[in-house]
Amino acid sequence: MNTLDAIRTKGSVRKFTEESVPEETILQILDAGRHSQSSKNNQPWTFVLVQDKEHLKALSECGTYAGHIAGADFAVVLVDHSNWSFDIGQAAAYLQLAAWDLGVSSCIAYFGLQDKLKDLLGIPPGAVAEIGISFGYSAEEPRSLRKSGRKPLEDILKREHW
Ligand SMILES: Cc1cc2nc3c(=O)[nH]c(=O)nc-3n(C[C@H](O)[C@H](O)[C@H](O)COP(=O)(O)O)c2cc1C
Repeated sequence: MNTLDAIRTKGSVRKFTEESVPEETILQILDAGRHSQSSKNNQPWTFVLVQDKEHLKALSECGTYAGHIAGADFAVVLVDHSNWSFDIGQAAAYLQLAAWDLGVSSCIAYFGLQDKLKDLLGIPPGAVAEIGISFGYSAEEPRSLRKSGRKPLEDILKREHW
């Protein structure tokens, strides 16, 4: 899959099959996240890989809309050491696009219950871990059959001036 096709076709998937993603594929996805750009190349992230089913269920209860994590094959929690979420946003995009290229679907989750999550994963109090991503093989209809739901370019583009 070329990059443009990946960007155009990737959509959030919240229902996953029981099929396990091979360890080699998981490592390829994580490695793509590691290659992400960051301000001053600080790479202010740690990825926490969660695969245990009970652990995934507990993780899914750390955010109001994080329920999809319970049915995922695995999840990655992005621990942010910079308190500037732009950088981990980049890493999240790399992780998701690499996964999509490898046939693995995903969805972001926001973790509002930080104390609960840090307790669950043993994350140091000073770090921020508000974003996680569920991964697995899709049990939903393909993206091409759904509307993209994006604003038209002419609505969001200004040339030279506002
Ligand atoms: C910062 C951020 C937080 C998000 N948090 C959640 C979440 O907690 N639960 C969820 O189901 N989806 C979450 N999403 C996914 C968005 O709802 C989704 O990307 C958006 O509706 C567009 O749909 P699409 O990804 O299928 O194109 C989040 C996305 C981003 C970028």
